Amino acid sequence: MNKEELNNILKNMSRYEKIGQLVCLGGQFFNKDVDIKTGPTINLGIDPKIIPYAGFSSNLPYEDLIKIQNDKMKNNKVPIATCCDVIHGYKTIFPIPLALSASFNMDLIKKCAKCWAKEASDDGIFVSFSPMLDLSRDPRWGRVMESFGEDPYLGMEYAKAYISGMQGNLKDEGTIGACVKHFAGYSLPEGGRDYQMSNISRRVFNDFYLPPYIEGIRTKPLMVMSGFNAVDLLPTVANKELLINYLRNKLKFDGLVISDYNAIHELVNHRVAKDDKEAALIAFKSGVSVDLMSCCYSNYLDELIEEGLISEEELDERVMEVLNLKNKLSLFENPYRFVKKEREYTKDFLIDAYKAATESIVLLKNDAVLPLSKKDSVLYVGPFISEEEMYGGWSYNRDKNITTIENCLKESNYSKYETFITKDIYKNALSKADLDVLRDKAKSFNKIVFLVGEKEEDSGEASSKTDINLNKNIVKMIKEIFIVNKNIVSVIFSGRPIVITDINDITKGLVYAFFPGTMGSKALLDLLYGKRNFSAKLTMSIPYSIGQIPVYYQEYPTGRPYDNRIEENKYYSHYLDSPNKPLYTFGDGLSYSKFVYTNLTISKEVVNIFEKLKISVSVKNESDIDGDEIVLLYVEDLVASVARPIKELKRCKKIHLRKSEEKRVEFIISSNDLKFSGINYKRICEKGEFKVFIGDLEKVFRIE
Ligand code: BGC
Repeated sequence: MNKEELNNILKNMSRYEKIGQLVCLGGQFFNKDVDIKTGPTINLGIDPKIIPYAGFSSNLPYEDLIKIQNDKMKNNKVPIATCCDVIHGYKTIFPIPLALSASFNMDLIKKCAKCWAKEASDDGIFVSFSPMLDLSRDPRWGRVMESFGEDPYLGMEYAKAYISGMQGNLKDEGTIGACVKHFAGYSLPEGGRDYQMSNISRRVFNDFYLPPYIEGIRTKPLMVMSGFNAVDLLPTVANKELLINYLRNKLKFDGLVISDYNAIHELVNHRVAKDDKEAALIAFKSGVSVDLMSCCYSNYLDELIEEGLISEEELDERVMEVLNLKNKLSLFENPYRFVKKEREYTKDFLIDAYKAATESIVLLKNDAVLPLSKKDSVLYVGPFISEEEMYGGWSYNRDKNITTIENCLKESNYSKYETFITKDIYKNALSKADLDVLRDKAKSFNKIVFLVGEKEEDSGEASSKTDINLNKNIVKMIKEIFIVNKNIVSVIFSGRPIVITDINDITKGLVYAFFPGTMGSKALLDLLYGKRNFSAKLTMSIPYSIGQIPVYYQEYPTGRPYDNRIEENKYYSHYLDSPNKPLYTFGDGLSYSKFVYTNLTISKEVVNIFEKLKISVSVKNESDIDGDEIVLLYVEDLVASVARPIKELKRCKKIHLRKSEEKRVEFIISSNDLKFSGINYKRICEKGEFKVFIGDLEKVFRIE
């Protein structure tokens, strides 16, 4: 539709119809039987008259969509747009984002996003409330599972891959719109407690938290969702500087800003609005166009316009954003988009989900215990043997078609094995009798694989924890078995990095599986038995102790660094009871192959601010096993006008190396990559010396 046609639609709408376009209601408002998974739906206080006028619905079942659109078409009304949280799969579930990002494989991430967009689109979903581009440095916050981890550069690459995979060309079948969330800085709530305000300094916010959203916005998502949180004590739905001056005017975002669930009403709880009416006024004036699941816009916009506090023109402007979005989705021509009555079951998606899982599971330690072989006799112990809940949060539309570890073991002839399932261990330690049985069994197998971690429900929204240690009953069990059998492999399932320091020393093999999704069991077993090679690297550090949190690789310098300490002097930055470093850091991850880095070169030792610098390194697979290696290039700014992190990732490349093969890997960086918020908060690249690191090699260059 062209501009004029859209203007005509707008002209013919009543004010009430226009206000309806700015409201997104959950599917349960259209069908009472639907169980909605998030947020407070009770006592929303919405005037039910608005329901037939609502411009958006989240989680609307297929049948209701058809009914609503039929009705809209008959009455020549603007079609509704359907939304849903499609986070890491729809029917086929892929590894949680925190795991998927560990693949460092942007083509793969793009392909995965394309798969889940197709499944959602077949089911009548037009826009997904994803990707979540919140940089995550605090694993107490349960939503780190939805994130790409702790590095802004990786977040930028991930944002591009995810959004372009899901949106493709929105005219094409199988695509859905994306929504960058939660703008901005939602991921550092004080104390790790979800919904609490984020305390982030301006420089850290600009240089670390903002870049993934910025890159996401450059990729042209249809929507941006503002966060629940306050940054610098201002709730984001009330932050005009952020949503209008920055997002609209500076970043030139021309899509739609939607609030998070009930967040406009929550301005009253934040105590920056005295009531819902004032909350509606503040959010509207601050740049929020669509009210997701609060009563504020539907109940009060009319009154606010009558009172002259909001003008008709302002309302029209916002409604036009909605019409534009619907036009980009071609809803005026095809209000059903690509919904299918019978969903095609695409087996290929299972293959993609399997590949994604093999590239997302991280090997952290291997003291010659892996791979398991056909000749091994293996005792599998733990709750995750028969566990179906390995999808991870935000997978409520899933097909229940996971193959458990137990079934996978039965179906494939990996090796001699037995299982010992401990379903109840989170609550109760093994009884003495059970422990005796387990101990006896453990003596007669040559390897023990523990499949342990956190329950699915322990991570995700509203799942913050203060104790993220591996459950103490599990630790006790592993320690007891260690006494009789030293060949222990521990596989950790979870939605966040959990503290596993207590078992780290007594486990010869350590694998971090996160929640690997529908094909996770097969992928894991194939990796453990060496049918596939590990390649993933952590994208979020695993703390040594809870007291270190937040702990991440991009540490900032201190006046009293640990590395310069003099042993007898106590006054340097450290803990009395814990090392400073995490147990495992961003970028850690092993393979069955052995990769050796040599010959790091830079094209010039001195470059000017406009020149590009070519950095090359040779990587050799010095083993007889084919494998993939993720080559990570870090830069350190040696002296700057403000404190810069110890090192920062600037490029990454995943390469395949056959046994004994060597490849030269090249990267190009420029002064643009070295910018930061300088002394006046302007982003600049300061002249001076920088160090570049790849593997354990380093080189210094100067920017003149
Ligand atoms: C979450 C959002 C989500 C929305 C709609 C909220 O509770 O914070 O991430 O998109 O619900 O389901």
